[in-house]
Amino acid sequence: MYKTKMLPKFVAAAVLAGTVALSGCASSSADKSAAIKDRQALMQTILKNWKPIKAFAKSGAGSNADVVKHAKAINATTDQMLAVFPKGSGRGDFSDKQTRALPAIWKNWEGFKKANQTLSNESAKLASIAASGDKQAIAKQVGAMGKLGCGGCHKPFRGAKAK
Ligand code: HEC
Repeated sequence: MYKTKMLPKFVAAAVLAGTVALSGCASSSADKSAAIKDRQALMQTILKNWKPIKAFAKSGAGSNADVVKHAKAINATTDQMLAVFPKGSGRGDFSDKQTRALPAIWKNWEGFKKANQTLSNESAKLASIAASGDKQAIAKQVGAMGKLGCGGCHKPFRGAKAK
C-alpha cells in the first residue's frame, strides 16, 4: 500500500480531498458500514437457527433432524464470518449505536479467528451428536455450543448495547 508521502503531490492532494480512490487501499467507509449490516444480518441468521436448537434442548420441540439441519446452517455461517469484519468497522470508527463490535477484534485478530473456529467446531460436533438422537447428549452439546461458541466470542469481542 502507498504511503501518502510517497505519492506525487497532486495525487496526495486529491486523496486528502477524498476525490481519488486508490486501488489496493483499504475499503471505503461505505463498504465498512455495509459490512456492519452484513454481519448483523449474518448474526440474525445464526440466531434464527439457534432458537429451534435451544427449543429442542429445553422442551423437546421439533426433532433431532431439525437440530442437525440448524447446526449445519450455523456451521456454514462460520465460513462467512471473517469477511464481514473488515478492519476499521468497529466501535471507535463507527458509533456505539451502529455497532457493538469492539476494537479488540482487530487488536487480537488471531483470538477472534479462534473464537470463530470454536463455533465452527462446536456446531459440527452438535450436528453429529444430534444425528444420534440421544436427547441428553444433544442438550449437553447445545449448552457447550452456547457457552463456548457464542459466549466465547461475545464476551471478549462484543460490547454492551448502546443506550
Ligand atoms: C467470532 C465471533 C462471534 C461468534 C462465534 C458469535 N457472534 Fe454473535 N456477534 C458477534 C459480534 C462482534 C456482534 C456485534 C456485531 C455488530 O454489532 O457489528 C454479534 C452480534 C450478535 C447478534 C446481534 C445482531 C444484530 O442484529 O445486531 C446476535 C443475535 C448474535 N450475535 C447471536 C449469536 C449467536 C446465537 C451465536 C452462537 C450460535 C453467535 N452470535 C456467535 C460475534 C460473534
